[in-house]
Amino acid sequence: MLTVFITGGAGYIGSHVVKELLHQGHQPIVFDNLQTGHRKAVKNVPVIEGDLSDQKILKETFQYYPIKAVMHFAADSLVGESVQNPEKYFNNNVKNSMNLIEIMEEMNVKKIVFSSSAAVYGEPKEIPISEKHPCVPTNPYGETKWIFEKVLQAFHDAQKLNFISLRYFNAAGADPEGDLGEDHSPETHLIPLLIKAALDGTSVPVYGTDYHTPDGTCIRDYIHVTDLSHAHILALTQLEKENASGIYNLGNGNGYSVREVIETVKKVTGKKVTAIDSPRRPGDPARLVASSTKIKEELGWVPNYPHLETIVETAWKWHKKHPNGYGHQKEK
Ligand code: UFG
Repeated sequence: MLTVFITGGAGYIGSHVVKELLHQGHQPIVFDNLQTGHRKAVKNVPVIEGDLSDQKILKETFQYYPIKAVMHFAADSLVGESVQNPEKYFNNNVKNSMNLIEIMEEMNVKKIVFSSSAAVYGEPKEIPISEKHPCVPTNPYGETKWIFEKVLQAFHDAQKLNFISLRYFNAAGADPEGDLGEDHSPETHLIPLLIKAALDGTSVPVYGTDYHTPDGTCIRDYIHVTDLSHAHILALTQLEKENASGIYNLGNGNGYSVREVIETVKKVTGKKVTAIDSPRRPGDPARLVASSTKIKEELGWVPNYPHLETIVETAWKWHKKHPNGYGHQKEK
């Protein structure tokens, strides 16, 4: 049993990982400023409402709990916003994250799993993308994730910590047991927007129909949030080993176009979904598909929900029951 400090533990991915940690017998301590996270998404664990800019509360938390490892989810993660407001991204994702590393050093905590992103690669030169692909981020969000990976590598080289950085492709879906789901405000992600459209008749823009892809729309690699969660548990186990640092992609290796996702949502929900062909969204690469061979071979990761249809089904189940997200719940 490990006491694990989880920044951003009340967020979409963090809350799913907290559930998995509890299931595996670990003790998560959630630290979240609740700006985008939801208190209702974390049950039966201590939740400290705090911000990583606040060194005092960080220190008090590390002094109070016997923390042995950290999982760092807390970050701003909207690509478009990062272009408009880079200061926010460098402050939150780099500067505030340094406070975390400093307190870990002070308190002799040497294990960290970091939420990185496919955004570190920028425009791919080859598909599927392996971890050896050059990192040329095309927006401040990706830049901040890449910078912090380099910080972790430098601290590892100085023998101050071991880290595993997980580069997520498109996280999607919801807890198959129906307890947790995706609730962003504003929502910008394709699958929850399409499900909302199926529920309330709103329309969804298709950002770009003239890409060099078979149907002209962007291709992405969607990975189920519970499969992501399992990868975090494997990463934690790996960090128990001496000197075990590494960087791993997390995707399914299958690319789906925006139009294919729309068709899947229609099929799963049995509803009409209105999609409107629209101009490209700045900064979207045509294709992002992961090679996750490394994490499969080195950590034994096996996805349980690799099919887009299953991913959408779990999301649909949650949104149907929670049309207002964590705001309020429909009675069964
Ligand atoms: N899309 C639409 N209409 C919408 C929303 C999205 O057509 O209303 C398209 C996008 O253009 C993209 C695909 O659907 O081609 C998926 O878009 P998402 O916004 O769901 O996800 P992204 O691929 O933009 O973003 C994901 C992560 C980010 C990460 C990025 C890396 O959510 O955190 O990959 O490029 F930075």
